[in-house]
Amino acid sequence: MSEIKALGYLGFSISDSEAWRNYAENILGVSITEKENGDMYLRIDSYAWRIHLKNSDHDDLDYVGWEVGDKKDLESLKNRLTEQGVTFETGSDELAETRQVKELVIFNDPDGIRCEVFYGPLQVTNMPFVSPKGFRFITGEQGLGHIVLITKDHIAQEAFYTEFLGFKITDYINTEVVPGKPLNISFLRCNGRHHSLALAPVPISAKVAHIMLQVNNIDDVGRAMDAAKKSGEHFSFTLGRHSNDEMLSFYTMTPSGFDVEFGWGAIEVDDDTWHVKVHNTNSAWGHKFQRPPRK
Ligand SMILES: [Fe+2]
Repeated sequence: MSEIKALGYLGFSISDSEAWRNYAENILGVSITEKENGDMYLRIDSYAWRIHLKNSDHDDLDYVGWEVGDKKDLESLKNRLTEQGVTFETGSDELAETRQVKELVIFNDPDGIRCEVFYGPLQVTNMPFVSPKGFRFITGEQGLGHIVLITKDHIAQEAFYTEFLGFKITDYINTEVVPGKPLNISFLRCNGRHHSLALAPVPISAKVAHIMLQVNNIDDVGRAMDAAKKSGEHFSFTLGRHSNDEMLSFYTMTPSGFDVEFGWGAIEVDDDTWHVKVHNTNSAWGHKFQRPPRK
């Protein structure tokens, strides 16, 4: 019943384009296409874009784009949305053109996060992606990376993504990122990537904890870390290796306040042999949490 194949794209409103330009190019090593209205579209692979940064006066997560294989899968999802009484909207031709996809459907998850499910993303092979830092990102069948949403109604969110949208639970981490504050995080997959989505019931108002980009070379994690240090970025989590997906990564705070995890070396999940696990620590080593500086 799962039509969703991968995390396809993300959209954020951002208030500081200048800081983002430096962060995207010099730390993350992604390329930027800038529009006349000041919006920026970030590329990391053959897709025309993967992250849309809307030039705004505030910072927010605007939408999460999930990719299905084809029109048949999109229609099958639409039928289920209708059957289950989930309000949805078919994306206009104009929106599909803006998103550079064939067709899309839009609905909200139980926490009110705007989900856009699409097929047919434009590939730009005549203008190959060239990282300003020489990085190569792991995408393809594993999609753009992962996103960690902060849940308000954790039970409803987990049920919606698993029972309704067909994600599979990979594992759980029951930990205390902040000592004395137990946190139970659910990790969900829709392809071989260990998780494309994680749900974390942190009692704060933000919608997104972090997004993750994965490179294919361990040294590029080091290079990005050096660049982040030089640029004075805030390290929300120091270098470490996660307990569950075995990602070697560090986290820096974006100019919008959420984090980007920059990683290498995660395991891939084989559906036939995987069984759900539970961890009681976030990381095998490292990943020391550091509070953001007060403004
Ligand atoms: Fe992560």
